[in-house]
Amino acid sequence: MAIVYGGDYNPEQWPRETWAEDVRLMREAGVNRVSVGIFSWAKLEPEEGRFDFGWFDEVLDMLHEGGIGVCLATPTASPPPWFAATYPEALPVDESGRRLTHGSRQGFDPSSDVYLAKALAITERVARRYHDHPAVRLWHVHNEYGCHNARSYSAAATAKFRLWLRERYGDLESLNEAWGTAFWSQAYSSWDQIHVPLPTPSIPNPAHVLDFKRFSSRRLLELYRAEVALLRSIDPSKPMTTNVMTGSHPDIDLWEFAEEVDVVSADHYLERPFEHVNLGFAADFARSLGGGKPWILMEHSTSAVNWQGRNRAKAPRELLRNSLSHFARGADAIMFFQWRASRRGAEKWHSGMVPHVGTDSKIWREVCELGARLGELEELEGSTVTADAAILWDYQNLWAQEHEAKPTDDLNVQQVLNTCYSALWRAGVTTDVAHSEGDLSGYRLVVVPALYLTSNRAAENLKDFVRGGGTVLVTPYSGIADENDAVYLGGYPGAFRDMVGVRTEEFYPLIDRTIELTSGGTGSIWSEAAEARGAEVRDTYLDGTPAWTVNRYGEGTAHYLTTFVDGDTLDRVVAAALSDAQVEPVADAPAGVEVVRRSHDDGRSWLFCINHLDRDAQVKTATAAIEVPAGEVVVHAESEN
Ligand code: GAL
Repeated sequence: MAIVYGGDYNPEQWPRETWAEDVRLMREAGVNRVSVGIFSWAKLEPEEGRFDFGWFDEVLDMLHEGGIGVCLATPTASPPPWFAATYPEALPVDESGRRLTHGSRQGFDPSSDVYLAKALAITERVARRYHDHPAVRLWHVHNEYGCHNARSYSAAATAKFRLWLRERYGDLESLNEAWGTAFWSQAYSSWDQIHVPLPTPSIPNPAHVLDFKRFSSRRLLELYRAEVALLRSIDPSKPMTTNVMTGSHPDIDLWEFAEEVDVVSADHYLERPFEHVNLGFAADFARSLGGGKPWILMEHSTSAVNWQGRNRAKAPRELLRNSLSHFARGADAIMFFQWRASRRGAEKWHSGMVPHVGTDSKIWREVCELGARLGELEELEGSTVTADAAILWDYQNLWAQEHEAKPTDDLNVQQVLNTCYSALWRAGVTTDVAHSEGDLSGYRLVVVPALYLTSNRAAENLKDFVRGGGTVLVTPYSGIADENDAVYLGGYPGAFRDMVGVRTEEFYPLIDRTIELTSGGTGSIWSEAAEARGAEVRDTYLDGTPAWTVNRYGEGTAHYLTTFVDGDTLDRVVAAALSDAQVEPVADAPAGVEVVRRSHDDGRSWLFCINHLDRDAQVKTATAAIEVPAGEVVVHAESEN
């Protein structure tokens, strides 16, 4: 079977004459799959209850005749104007209590029952009409849940939030205890007193806000479940997915979504400053969400996006490097947003596979070259990627840290994650992304970046991992509070104190300064009044306070940092942790050359060597020296093949 290749196809943006040319060009580029219908609701149901499927029949038939398969979307991410006009109460409400209007997309309140009813009505029509259309391969449910409307502060949300809380806590006493409402006289004596967190005179209750974020993510998951249940009742056989953002977009808990999709599909856009390194993370995360199974890169860009303020066009060959890096990291489908760059509308400055300038262009030539290369890589379909190292990432931890009252605003957990992941990337180690409560038994090294919110289960999970012989590298501000955001007592990092063999009395955030370390490195953002309680001290502040410690715990080893060390120092710490864990880089490659292995169970394997440098490079393995020209990607079949 061919590797899936294509992108979002929005023929409703173009006159009919263009459609035949689209299919011809798709074939020329080696495209074999497109996602259709994502934003077609207004054209499929121009007035409430009046449907027009004729044009869509034509599109699907034409694609099928051209040999192009379809990811068929439910068009529920963008309700039409009639929806807002008829049901204004179903529009989302922002955190200041202001109701938003129609005019862009995702104009609905996730807690609105009328939205759900209308979304299911159009979904049912689409499903009944096309479930047995020969072009349809997969259901693309909605589009990026919660991309713009993840949290709505409406009356409907308050009503559903209360129900959700009743289910979670059972009685008010438990809720009051979990939220710590003894503080500031916040104890609730009736469920009706609880609202979504709207503006309030001072700092809101952190546990209340955290639960609202949990609720909001679950609400979107309920919407996904409802569409899936309906689709399955009509079409039980085809796989279903919803495309998620694994690189950013932090408002929905992707671990919970991942449990409910048949195949993970992810979207990724380069963002400064980490660009292709962040791409690596996003791809590794997509693979990890599916437990290592091949995944679908549902969207990425051929060149510039339109939403970053200053939108960089990709350099020559960058499209190929980006796409093949996703492929190397386990994607079995490479797709773009979108087929043709729009002439009109909010995204007219977003690149497409067919750019404004037409086919005599860098983009089109690279799109065709990529299609041809994926065609040659057919035998890799279904192959997988193995990682000995994992990095933890957890949305609930992120949400808890978003709260305004904390030791320092300078500590950003996403930056800590990026910094740690970048160090592993530089070390040439392939990394999975894991959840703190997930199965860690397949790993030898686990990196724990600022896991402030550490549930009791997560703490036990990590400790079991180390006791059993694993190595961890724990950064500051980990193991501080439990799942209800209540601080662990007796010295920081409370949940991990015995594991890391360190006890900290107070935090000393570094305000506009760095500290020097004995090793010659520096620390920034954070420092601690830490004392080694059993751990070996590897580096200190100049006053002797431990900066980097290593503790033997059970059969394993726990590295702990008490400050955010500079890049070179972090590389040394990571190298030491990798060596304790006996984790090796995939190959011997110069800095800036990415190497990832995909393999089949039968032993056939391929090395993807991606040269991000502007000079030629050599990648060495035990059996080969692989020449990789500047900016190019070499896929090297290893000797057993
Ligand atoms: C995605 C979205 C696409 C398009 C793209 C632009 O988030 O799913 O519809 O808007 O961003 O980069």
